[in-house]
Amino acid sequence: MCGIVGYIGNRDSQGILLEGLKKLEYRGYDSAGIAVFTSNGLEIKKSKGRLAVLEDKLKDDPLEGSVGIGHTRWATHGKPSDVNSHPHTDNSSKFSVVHNGIVENYLDLKDELIAKGHVFVSETDTEVISHLVADEYDGNIVEAVQRAVKRMRGAFALGVLTEYEPERLVAVRFASPLVIGVGEGENFIGSDIPAILEHTRNVYILNDGEMAVLTRGGVELMTTDGENISKEIFHVDWDLVTAEKAGFDHFMLKEIHEQPKAYRDTMLGRIADDGKSVNLKELNMSDEYIRSIRKVHIVACGTAYHAGLVGKSVIESLARIPVENDVASEYRYRSPIITPDTLVIVVSQSGETADTLAALREAQKNGARVLAITNVVGSSVAREANDVITTWAGPEIAVASTKAYTSQLIAFYLFGLHLARVLGSQEQSAVEELIEGLHALPEQVESILEQAPVLKQVAESMAHHKSLFFIGRGVDYAVAQEGSLKLKEISYIHSEAYAAGELKHGTLALIEEGVPVISLVTQEALYEKTLSNIKEVKARGAHVLAIANSGFETEVAKSVDEIFAIPKTLPILSPALAVVPLQLLSYYASLALGHDVDKPRNLAKSVTVE
Ligand code: F6R
Repeated sequence: MCGIVGYIGNRDSQGILLEGLKKLEYRGYDSAGIAVFTSNGLEIKKSKGRLAVLEDKLKDDPLEGSVGIGHTRWATHGKPSDVNSHPHTDNSSKFSVVHNGIVENYLDLKDELIAKGHVFVSETDTEVISHLVADEYDGNIVEAVQRAVKRMRGAFALGVLTEYEPERLVAVRFASPLVIGVGEGENFIGSDIPAILEHTRNVYILNDGEMAVLTRGGVELMTTDGENISKEIFHVDWDLVTAEKAGFDHFMLKEIHEQPKAYRDTMLGRIADDGKSVNLKELNMSDEYIRSIRKVHIVACGTAYHAGLVGKSVIESLARIPVENDVASEYRYRSPIITPDTLVIVVSQSGETADTLAALREAQKNGARVLAITNVVGSSVAREANDVITTWAGPEIAVASTKAYTSQLIAFYLFGLHLARVLGSQEQSAVEELIEGLHALPEQVESILEQAPVLKQVAESMAHHKSLFFIGRGVDYAVAQEGSLKLKEISYIHSEAYAAGELKHGTLALIEEGVPVISLVTQEALYEKTLSNIKEVKARGAHVLAIANSGFETEVAKSVDEIFAIPKTLPILSPALAVVPLQLLSYYASLALGHDVDKPRNLAKSVTVE
């Protein structure tokens, strides 16, 4: 998982490549590099570390030229180092490659190339590609790349240059995202649209097995088998400013504050004006098909998986259809029982997560219909699924997902209500009450955000603890899991989430004097039981913060050390509120510890490797 950019035109390429890489740093940021045709030929500058390190290097000694490629890396094969950074080249230094993805058979190819006399300097799979292309070259770079990719297995988006043909930039897509930007007298490649949006709004979105040959004057599209293809230009009408920080210190904080808007946008046009029903007109699935669904599998990774845990409760309670949740990286390998009456729902902010995409394909191969809940229009998941519910959260830049998660929850509520309408599984009054509850959420989130200073204080006192616990029952347990992940990933504090009643079966041994326990208590039917569990940890010295639903917070307050009340809502809707204070706690804990909130160590925004 990495980001790639490329430029061919008449302007100086270095600035364009660096700007593009800045937009792509969310995809990985352990090293960066560019290759440019200069008056000395194909020159490469690259270095370990953030893009800023490369920028410093280039300040005194720029690469001047109007054709180039660039890369920001998230290490897979080979540790972050100067030599493992991209672009890579071959022994003649006449070829240069940037790559996002993994070449699974790179060791076999490497052995073969070594036997032919190629000498490798890095530990990467990508270096094999540059040698392979060089080996296949006999005067036509397009054909050489086509022959090379035929020999490669795995996932890759590539940008390739050769000094022998300085007027062509070759791009290939196979299972890793790539778009081509079409300008006037100049053309671009990028791992995503924001990387090139400053320069053009006209893009081609490549499919797997497609490639593009860019010159200054045009873009030729073809398959990797060499068959010419034509595609419609996709005109991007969204604004780059939406991808900037808008005055907040961090993207994460900005995105937390964007949640009320994301809720409203995701609901927009999907709820009838009279507030009596939900109709997801974008779905292709017929009412007859919906009536035939006997079970649902929800498959996703990380935070999106946690949204799916809430989705299970929503679908089971509103539509009475049994739901199983799976982590996408496990799904394919457990031989899931998928029948034509199984609806598989994949959830993915980016729509490019390799494991989720593989699960989608596995489900379709076994005859299931796949519904995708995704935030990225035109992403791989969106294009391959049978039905799509887009979460209109807008671009999410911070590595820690916030507004995408809550918009996924909204998508599940809407889908649950859509199913309920078709199946007649809910009383009309219950449907209307739920819709009313949904409409109230954005303002309720706003009222939570206003209390951020309180949460900042709590976070600062919590931040120096080595370990803490989140507990809850029912959907509170699902939210506890998300709260725990959020804290871990940006503050690096060890935390675990437990079903409140499960602690006493082992983990209670870890509770000792002063250990912080964050307890979610939003479910009226369960709060007495959760209170018993709170008493168990209190008796062992834990310091308990409760996140409770207004209505019974006074009762809860008697048993805990601190309490944060969320506005009153229906039990099933409470995750959409209860997670917000947890997001803020994580944010402020990370800040208090001086970490890079938006770019936590070892992580990347979009995980396009298995
Ligand atoms: C955590 C986080 C990750 C993602 C996961 C799936 O804050 O963002 O756990 O949720 O990598 O990513 P998507 O949703 O893009 O498939």
